[in-house]
Amino acid sequence: MNQVLEELSKIGIVPVVVINDVKDAKPLAEALMKGGLPCAEVTFRTEAAEESIKIISENFPEMLVGAGTVLTTEQVDRAVAAGAKFIVSPGLNPTVVEYCVKKGIPVAPGTATPSEMEQAMSFGLDVVKFFPAENNGGLSMIKAVAAPYVGLKFMPTGGINAQNVREYLKYDRILCCGGSWMVKGDLIKAGDFAKIEELTREAAAIVKEVRG
Ligand code: 3PG
Repeated sequence: MNQVLEELSKIGIVPVVVINDVKDAKPLAEALMKGGLPCAEVTFRTEAAEESIKIISENFPEMLVGAGTVLTTEQVDRAVAAGAKFIVSPGLNPTVVEYCVKKGIPVAPGTATPSEMEQAMSFGLDVVKFFPAENNGGLSMIKAVAAPYVGLKFMPTGGINAQNVREYLKYDRILCCGGSWMVKGDLIKAGDFAKIEELTREAAAIVKEVRG
């Protein structure tokens, strides 16, 4: 498996962040680092995403920062130029996946069905995002589809929180879980980075408890 994805596996939980104002990038990254989850998926949903990735990767080189909600190859280029180490998408866009694979950029496309998972595997991927996880049957759905796809690992995202993440992490076919519960928009907006750090620390403790 790709080294970046292996590192994500060790961290266990990937905070999915929406940054509206670039001034929040640094304190947010600092809170995640201090809380014990040295990674982030910065979603390409806001004007601030690209610059935020740049700020985080320059100021926190030890942090594994990736880009989420990547829908086009042009966004892949912008994200990688800004310092993104991995690419995540809500769905499987063959053009985007092929582009990342050709360029050697780790990519986890969103999948929800066996056909989409097979499509991802046909590009040589061994990790897929499972999205939106809870709406699509959650862990029991992953366990059902994981049986035939022996080499495939999953990054469930969507509806995961401090209450249900433990069960996901216990299953050995889960690479890591994505979620926004420790980096909610209202906390970022309020500048409550202490709370973000606290929730991050709780999340990191769950990873340690389950995976050692
Ligand atoms: C997203 O794309 O916003 C992620 O899936 C996060 O989902 P969550 O807010 O349910 O954790």
